[in-house]
Amino acid sequence: MSKVTVVGAGKYGSTTVQRIAEWDIVDEVVMTDIVEGLPQGLALDMNQSRPLLGYRTKVVGTNDYADTAGSDVVVITAGLPRKPGMSRMDLLGVNAKIVKAVTQEIIRYSPDAVIIVVTNPLDQMTTLAAEVSGLPRNRVLGQAGMLDSARFAHFIADAADVDILDVQAVTLGSHGETMVPVPSLCKVGDVPLAEALDPEKIEEIVDRTRNGGAEIVAYLKTGSAYYTPSAAAALMVKAIVEDSGQEMPVCAWMEGQYGIDGVYLGVLAKLGKNGVGEVSEVELTATERSALEDAAVAVAEKVADLEQIAY
Ligand code: APR
Repeated sequence: MSKVTVVGAGKYGSTTVQRIAEWDIVDEVVMTDIVEGLPQGLALDMNQSRPLLGYRTKVVGTNDYADTAGSDVVVITAGLPRKPGMSRMDLLGVNAKIVKAVTQEIIRYSPDAVIIVVTNPLDQMTTLAAEVSGLPRNRVLGQAGMLDSARFAHFIADAADVDILDVQAVTLGSHGETMVPVPSLCKVGDVPLAEALDPEKIEEIVDRTRNGGAEIVAYLKTGSAYYTPSAAAALMVKAIVEDSGQEMPVCAWMEGQYGIDGVYLGVLAKLGKNGVGEVSEVELTATERSALEDAAVAVAEKVADLEQIAY
């Protein structure tokens, strides 16, 4: 059994904690935030649900990083969402400061942790956490592909009018504009996606998936999605603490796979106790491969923005 820390007790963080606790797969989940009382109150509420739901995992709410000591996995959700009038670079600056400070504290108390970053902008924040932590790159990864793939699967199931559990969908690349849907790896039952839906419909679904986060923000007005994002992050934690070797689309460090090197990119990877065990190099069509290469270039450019700001 293991210890997991989730930094940030907002919507994304607290729902991730709730899912991990209810699965009863670790001894303790520590939830921390800068807001005093928030993690403590949420933890108390969650712990009281244990006799009803029948699980033992204890949630510890704290503002003190000393309580996170010896964590096997740390999920970083701390950060601000983009506010009206704030440029992308402004958000980058604000969240870079937060992620840097959080990572320094985490590594001080859990020098051997695996860190999963979910704070946006995802690629930059994952790269930053890797650099600040000094951990081997396989121990720092980001969550984006699990979420986008789930959204893609949901839209495919709706359009094809089939059981959601019969759909296999994969997206690689990155979050947003450079998301790379991989139709050749998508299936509806045993049928390839291209045979289940016409090309226009697939294109429409791909577009909707790319803008999946914005669609939800537009409904909510304040705040962003957290049910599916937290499910994605919690499943990554599960694969790591159980050392399952399960293959998932995650944001992982590239070392020559698909001819791409030295950048964090959404790819299929096997997760285990050391984080990313192996990046799988799956067969892609020429179009998919070139889209993945373009995504790598776009991420590298975005990461270069980090060098222009003080954090
Ligand atoms: N240390 C710890 N917690 C912090 C810090 C910090 N330095 N700075 C901010 N926080 C906390 C806030 O107090 C808040 O409780 O992070 C939490 C963020 O919660 P929400 O505003 O509810 O945002 P959430 O929906 O959880 O999203 C968090 O995930 O999907 C991304 O873009 C999203 O970057 C955002 C992150």
